[in-house]
Amino acid sequence: MIGVMDSGLGGLLLLESIHKSHQDTDVLFYGDIEHMPYGDKSDEELKAIFEKIVLFFRRRHCTDLIIACNTMCSAIDFTKDYGLRVHDIITKTVSQVDVPNDKKILVLSTTYTKMRGRYRDELEKRGYDVLSVSLPKLALMIEKGEERSVVIKMLLKELEDIDKDQIGAIVLGCTHYPVYKDFFKEYYDVPVFDSRDLTFSIEDNKEEGAIILHTPKTKITENLMKHCVKASYRYD
Ligand code: DGL
Repeated sequence: MIGVMDSGLGGLLLLESIHKSHQDTDVLFYGDIEHMPYGDKSDEELKAIFEKIVLFFRRRHCTDLIIACNTMCSAIDFTKDYGLRVHDIITKTVSQVDVPNDKKILVLSTTYTKMRGRYRDELEKRGYDVLSVSLPKLALMIEKGEERSVVIKMLLKELEDIDKDQIGAIVLGCTHYPVYKDFFKEYYDVPVFDSRDLTFSIEDNKEEGAIILHTPKTKITENLMKHCVKASYRYD
């Protein structure tokens, strides 16, 4: 079984492509709404949360854990042995970026992800000039199902100081943000990269594959799943 985790709804957006490429294996999603948002937590808090989540997945005999959360990917030590294979999404997301490097790459993320700077470091290594901006309220607003007009107003305010002409591409460095991908694409009129369609090399276990959600069945979860995941699913 493949485990997928996020602080909340953002990780649901990755389920469709994970399920498609691993149809013979169950995919168990853990939405940690108890600790949402992760973006304003400390190293210690995030590491402690991760250890608990690892235990949850190990008890369920998961062989692999996809960390569908940029904040957690920025916090944990990938060289450590967690008793199951852990999969990062940041390096994979960066490797999709393929644009001329005459303009800046705007990386939007939580405060923690910006502070750790993994996106900035990996993009700079590839010769890009990076502008990192945190959107501390966005993930929580999406999680709460905030009105689109209110969210757009907040975004316009947060982004008002950025000179649009200097931006050549955008990386959405938080798995919640693709919910507003259309806005970013239209507002900047540049390519927007995110982690929705990443592929992972995981051996299939030849089970009958299903998507199982370990997260409360709310209107917002149901709505997001209806729009983003065509495969059938059930709650844990
Ligand atoms: N969706 C998460 C990420 O990719 C975290 C959002 C949050 O809990 O602050 O960073």
